[in-house]
Amino acid sequence: MITIHELRKKYIDFFVTKGHAEISGKSLIPENDPTVLFTTAGMQPLVPYLLGEPHPAGKRLVDFQKCVRTGDIDEVGDESHLTCFEMLGNWSLGDYFKKESIAFSWEFLTSPKWLALDPSMISVTVFQGDENAPRDETSAAAWAALGVPKDRIAYLPACDNWWAAGPTGPCGPDSEIFYWVGEGTPPALSNKGVDPKRWMEIWNNVFMEFNRVDEKTLVKLPAQNVDTGMGLERTVCILQGKKSVYDTEAFGPIIEAIEAVAGYAYRSDPEKDRSVRIISDHVRTATFILGDPKAVMPSNVGAGYVLRRIIRRAVRHGRKLGIEGSFLAKPAAAVIDNFAGPFPELAANRDRVLDELIKEEEKFLETLVKGEREFEKMLPNLLKNPQKVMSGRLAFKLYDTYGFPIELTEELASENGMKVNRPEFDEAYKKHQELSRAGSEQLFKGGLADHSEVSTKYHSATHLLQQALTIVLGPHIAQKGSNITAERMRFDFAHPAPMTKEELQRVEAIVNEQIARDLPVTMEIMKLDDAKAAGARALFGEKYEEDVKVYTMGDFSKEVCGGPHVERTGMIGKFRIQKEQSSSAGVRRIYAVLE
Ligand code: ALA
Repeated sequence: MITIHELRKKYIDFFVTKGHAEISGKSLIPENDPTVLFTTAGMQPLVPYLLGEPHPAGKRLVDFQKCVRTGDIDEVGDESHLTCFEMLGNWSLGDYFKKESIAFSWEFLTSPKWLALDPSMISVTVFQGDENAPRDETSAAAWAALGVPKDRIAYLPACDNWWAAGPTGPCGPDSEIFYWVGEGTPPALSNKGVDPKRWMEIWNNVFMEFNRVDEKTLVKLPAQNVDTGMGLERTVCILQGKKSVYDTEAFGPIIEAIEAVAGYAYRSDPEKDRSVRIISDHVRTATFILGDPKAVMPSNVGAGYVLRRIIRRAVRHGRKLGIEGSFLAKPAAAVIDNFAGPFPELAANRDRVLDELIKEEEKFLETLVKGEREFEKMLPNLLKNPQKVMSGRLAFKLYDTYGFPIELTEELASENGMKVNRPEFDEAYKKHQELSRAGSEQLFKGGLADHSEVSTKYHSATHLLQQALTIVLGPHIAQKGSNITAERMRFDFAHPAPMTKEELQRVEAIVNEQIARDLPVTMEIMKLDDAKAAGARALFGEKYEEDVKVYTMGDFSKEVCGGPHVERTGMIGKFRIQKEQSSSAGVRRIYAVLE
């Protein structure tokens, strides 16, 4: 039986035989992309190239990419939803298009030399057409030519067969591939849609020839690109003849670790099984986030908030299984052992992953104890209520002040013969959400960087800032993170002490001096070793291809970077540091604006 690790390798091998260069997957935390918290698709690190930048490895690429999508976190717990998954992807950057891409997919799936899946169990969908692009007869004909019967090709509207990672960015019609997981023989498809319970989507071929600039404007890209994504866990599930991704060996060792701490045998109680699946998904996601070279830590904002929410949800489900203390380190170790081959960063950051999980669990457990104590204090008064209803406002207060989850309040209430006024709680909660988290949630759902002029300017300014910091503070100031929005840049770097006012002024002056010199910005593709030998700065911990792009700004700065950048530093504008503060131990953070 093929394993998840064998399938990953087979995919890469297949596309290499078809002339694709293997590139390495990137961090889960996107750099210089203001609109997403995590990498949500294999194509995300490739956006600049899909928009037209030349890729140093060529026009045919293949990789595997760890992805985190938390948009439907609430569905996790069923048999197929995951918040962290691997996407196998192949790309054509203005090279082959629909016909070849479809033929590659078909050969890989059905050829006895590769996956040897039964063609009669496969169906496909193509774009039905609308005002943006015509009905995709080219793709339908390509499938038919390979022997896919007409009643296994459905034409569906944009909501199903138009793919975009976010409100702006590269996009286009797609053709999706499904495998029959229902009972008996698969029926003919209708153009009404594909029943996701009986057909599992395993692969998506997106024909990216458009760029959405804003809500109203869709423009043609300079080239016709292909972006595909195959779900590794789902495909291995099918190949292993399993009904659930959680029954594959991607999850087996994690589930075993949970069974051991909980003293519970998986598949003996449906409600508890759901908790086991939630824990195994969430611990895997948290391990990948904390094990990333650019890891975020649990916090109350942005990606750190998502991580915190995931860990806490896992803890809560642990308690449902009767687990009292902190326990996530055990299944996390199973994740590391299982995935450190393809993702060596997990082993390299093992201690951090386990320590942070334990710390966050303990913090949350304290919250739970405090919340329970407060509830006890409220109890005598609550019991006086003849309707035996606890007000939603009180439940919200427990949540808001102590972070005490509503499900636990409900549990405690029920143990005391009471109910919580849930609609009232939900209303208060909704108001609070709208006010405090609108920003994060927007990002959370995804959306692509708009590689607009402003982002490009900020990105170029980052290079100048880093060099200026090296000059003023010393060569130890390694970049620890960077984030750009249309309004400002944020730059984190290693430095043991707060910067003095004088140091800040000098850094600012140096950057503005280089802008005033209007230095030419040039790009060269070279071997990574040559780039380093030439003195180019590279991010520590970042995975690079063998061939990399090096951006040089006059005689001032040289960095390995994907771009894009301004053509001359004079285009950047005036640089002003707004504030400098601590980011974490040994890491300082600068906020700066361009005026
Ligand atoms: N980018 C496409 C997807 O994520 C392949 O489905």
